[in-house]
Amino acid sequence: MRQPLVAGNWKMNGSRASIRELLDGVKAGMGEVKTAEVAVCSPHIFLCDVQQQLDGSAVAWGGQDISVHESGAYTGETAGSMLAEFGCKYVIIGHSERRTYHGETDQVVAEKFVAARKAGLVPILCIGETLEERESGITEEVVGRQIDAVIAHCGVEMLGEGVIAYEPVWAIGTGKTASPEQAQEVHAFIRGRIAAASATVAEGLRILYGGSMNPGNAAQLLAQSDIDGGLIGGASLKAADFLAIATAANA
Ligand code: 13P
Repeated sequence: MRQPLVAGNWKMNGSRASIRELLDGVKAGMGEVKTAEVAVCSPHIFLCDVQQQLDGSAVAWGGQDISVHESGAYTGETAGSMLAEFGCKYVIIGHSERRTYHGETDQVVAEKFVAARKAGLVPILCIGETLEERESGITEEVVGRQIDAVIAHCGVEMLGEGVIAYEPVWAIGTGKTASPEQAQEVHAFIRGRIAAASATVAEGLRILYGGSMNPGNAAQLLAQSDIDGGLIGGASLKAADFLAIATAANA
């Protein structure tokens, strides 16, 4: 059985004070979370605080991006070893906001996947189609290409050491959620695509859904057979909402 993962992506939000309060709230409610693993992905500047607050708790943490390089003249970037030094377990890679605003290609994302693994981090690989792509009927082509790029570069076994997050771009921050059926259909496609390379890896791999997931729609999404958790944006900034999503995964 795949243990569900409910991971928050705070994006570029919060302050030292607001994050302290948020994490106090999350830690206080963790007793109700019976099944899911819970993690938060913080802006890198706050990782020292996050580590201090979460060390020894049941909540894991991670970064939101990683450099393809190990060190050197790459102003503004964060190396995998640096994320690891602050106790990160996870790192989000290839988020649609990075692909869109920072021009990250499938190749760069695949290189970041390797950089994360070299640093001992678990990459959360984000994939997903835009509204235009969905309306043109090429959703499977797009997510298939995004997956294939990582398999081609890293091999399917390394892909299996990460987590996938299917985040339809049209559902991110829009309040429009994919229906459970729509999401399940793509999740099943993704698992099938990976199964073509390795049935064992496909069976064990966690595929999260992301895009306007909230306490009202989480249970139905998480009940789908190929949805193994969520990557939560807006709702992860409120402890009560984030915990409600995590408890919706209770078996
Ligand atoms: P929202 O939950 O705010 O739609 O964001 C989803 C997301 O992009 C998580 O990475």
